[in-house]
Amino acid sequence: MSADPADSADPADAEDADAATRRSRPAVELDGVTKEYDSGAGVVRALDDVDFVAHPGEFIAVMGPSGSGKSTMLNVLGLLDEPTSGEVRLAGERVSGLSDRERTDQRRKYIGFVFQDFYLIPSLSAVENVEMPTLFTPGDGRERAADLLRTLGLGDRLDHRPTELSGGQQQRVAVARSLVNSPQVVLADEPTGNLDTETSRSVLEEFTRIKDEERVAIVAVTHDDLVTEYADRVVNLVDGVVVDDIATARASGRVDPNDQEAGDDEAGDDESGDDESGDDESTPADRGDEP
Ligand SMILES: Nc1ncnc2c1ncn2[C@@H]1O[C@H](COP(=O)(O)OP(=O)(O)O)[C@@H](O)[C@H]1O
Ligand SMILES: [Mg+2]
Repeated sequence: MSADPADSADPADAEDADAATRRSRPAVELDGVTKEYDSGAGVVRALDDVDFVAHPGEFIAVMGPSGSGKSTMLNVLGLLDEPTSGEVRLAGERVSGLSDRERTDQRRKYIGFVFQDFYLIPSLSAVENVEMPTLFTPGDGRERAADLLRTLGLGDRLDHRPTELSGGQQQRVAVARSLVNSPQVVLADEPTGNLDTETSRSVLEEFTRIKDEERVAIVAVTHDDLVTEYADRVVNLVDGVVVDDIATARASGRVDPNDQEAGDDEAGDDESGDDESGDDESTPADRGDEP
């Protein structure tokens, strides 16, 4: 937030500079987050001192048995639920102290959700559902909504209502809606839960495209091994505790998406003391790199 050359410039430039700054920071972080629910029958600790970081351009799968805290973690990451203790940061900024209104504003601007039950609006067509979140922001939301639906194979269903779509098609509408505002973070609860393999792949490929091209951080709760095939990291939750957080072979910065078969990038590090890579030493991908 210090002296920013965009201060006195055109607001569009200032917005670009702000977006660039935000994308240079961790997209979303949990720092010692505990979440307890007091449910008459006693206190349930759904999250227990969880540390978690999602960087721009990372796709993270969150796995774990039923009741382990996965949905609670998504709700806290998505500013839908406040932790009992600990801190949540969005692009490096604390959100814990914000008013409800400010949280809602941050959520609309920076976070896209794919809920397990889709929550599409029955009276609206597919393209109108996808366009909904853009009504708060400038630009041609309708065109972007239609483009996303076409990318996800629903170009011939733009004017259909949710009841006229299969479960898998509704899910793709929900995915398109989560992406329409170019969020910094997409949070998805079982995004492939109702899809066949081919449709799952088209959703996962769209996630991969937006994380690579738009540096979106994606956090997906899943039981689906296909999702972990596309993920950069897999986080396992058990009883509200992160029991492991493992970088996969796809991890950002380790594997060039255009050169996935190279397989010799460890050797490359030694001979490139002055290369262009600018690797951030703190990325989780690097942690598992020591022999
Ligand atoms: N609103 C709530 N009120 C009381 N307990 C809750 C609430 N939401 C979740 N829990 C409890 O917190 C724990 C974690 O739930 P959840 O995050 O939904 O797990 P998962 O998504 O991994 O199945 C469970 O024991 C669940 O019963
Ligand atoms: Mg759940």
